[in-house]
Amino acid sequence: MTFDHQVRDLSLAEAGRHQIRLAEHEMPGLMSLREEYAEAQPLAGARIAGSLHMTVQTAVLIETLTALGAEVRWASCNIYSTQDEAAAAIVVGQGTPEDPQGVPVFAWKGETLEEYWDCTNQILTWGQDASGEQVYANMILDDGGDATMLVHKGKEWEAAGQVPPTTEEDSEEFGVFKALVRRTLAEDPQKWTRVAAEIKGVTEETTTGVHRLYELARDGELLFPAINVNDSVTKSKFDNKYGCRHSLIDGLNRATDTLIGGKVAVVCGFGDVGKGCADSLRGQGARVIVTEIDPICALQAAMEGYQVATLEDVVESADIFITTTGCYDVIRTEHMVAMKDKAIVGNIGHFDNEIDMAGLAKVPGIIKTEIKPQVHEWTFAETGENGQPAGRSIIVLSEGRLLNLGNATGHPSFVMSNSFANQTIAQIELFTKPGEYSTDVYVLPKHLDEKVARLHLDALGVRLTELTKPQAQYLGVDVAGPYKPEHYRY
Ligand code: NAI
Repeated sequence: MTFDHQVRDLSLAEAGRHQIRLAEHEMPGLMSLREEYAEAQPLAGARIAGSLHMTVQTAVLIETLTALGAEVRWASCNIYSTQDEAAAAIVVGQGTPEDPQGVPVFAWKGETLEEYWDCTNQILTWGQDASGEQVYANMILDDGGDATMLVHKGKEWEAAGQVPPTTEEDSEEFGVFKALVRRTLAEDPQKWTRVAAEIKGVTEETTTGVHRLYELARDGELLFPAINVNDSVTKSKFDNKYGCRHSLIDGLNRATDTLIGGKVAVVCGFGDVGKGCADSLRGQGARVIVTEIDPICALQAAMEGYQVATLEDVVESADIFITTTGCYDVIRTEHMVAMKDKAIVGNIGHFDNEIDMAGLAKVPGIIKTEIKPQVHEWTFAETGENGQPAGRSIIVLSEGRLLNLGNATGHPSFVMSNSFANQTIAQIELFTKPGEYSTDVYVLPKHLDEKVARLHLDALGVRLTELTKPQAQYLGVDVAGPYKPEHYRY
């Protein structure tokens, strides 16, 4: 097969390699899995299509998967999240920019939507083998579920004999997605049946993608087994929370350099991501207000000392707005026109529909000014309903896409080592034990979750207390774990 790839600039590879080397030091989970499985090569024969932010940390994941025997093709799961130097280093591998010998990556920072979906198609389509047979991926490693959706919708529309016409109701992105599926089916009318037949399973990284998987399973439409990596405790209670605690503030600072102390910041949603974001803003001295729809999370926010209000109550007075809900239409046009001058608006949830960017663009007379890439000022020509003056503006980050990866470089390595150790173990589970997983959605067993945590203790100098046998008997657990029942919530 030819070694195809599409990245910004292969001459960035050296810079990327230095960063990857330092990241490896901070990713003990992934590095010890490399050691543990070096001989066994459990992923030999796996052809993994990876759709996950192409960052330095992901580079360490990719090279862990290949160290375990897998072949890999990679795209980012967001048009702004690629670190071009990491992508270049992965493509170059042990070779040189003139003679790259690494892994095919299809990702660069600032893709168009057409390019994005084309890259997603590329990771599933592996070219022809020596005998001229078309080869496809046989595993998916997904973040947000776009690669999984392409296979599912592709097969559904293939069976229906056509891709439904694009309508006014479709978002711009869904229109582009339909056009891509139309093109692939014109090239090969049975493509998606063939791809779906190859895929042994998918491991899904994030809350939003997991939500899509459970919907497919509920409706009897899931095509292959899935592991919900997000709900490993060592993923969602660490990456979503402590990762965002680090990277939200990083994104805000790199984008605006506005002092956060003393400002009023609104965090929409107080789930795992919202908890990390609220903590992050409070740590900088912001006065944080939370909005929630769930009484339990609202009560948690109140107990943490945050004011809990509706967006409508505070929209005219707050300085910073962050959406973390995984829901849609959370900050709408009527909110944005009511905000005060130079309010900052950003989203850290997976998709860009938490903020109604399409509606904002349609406000009469609105002017969009690029301050720098992924930072835009939107100036209102008209007076607001409550007398907000014409000429006021708001600052929107990453066009409403996740700002921690658009305006900064996402989560730091150590926390991603936890998430990606879960991903690696989940890939091994689905690839090596096909008979044990039927077409449904699973979480990893607790002993593997505990293993991931254990792999990260030494690096932090943590000394764990060991249960004595009688103590273990008293608690009704094994000395070696698992230590908690499935229903325990941490
Ligand atoms: P979660 O389900 O734990 O939290 C979301 C919270 O938002 C829930 O408590 C829910 O009640 C609340 N919510 C829903 N609709 C709302 C609305 N209209 N107004 C106010 N609150 C509302 O989910 P989690 O894990 O916190 O993830 C949130 C989003 O962030 C997902 O899209 C996920 O995929 C994404 N994510 C992004 C990361 C990043 O690095 N940017 C990292 C991890 C997750």
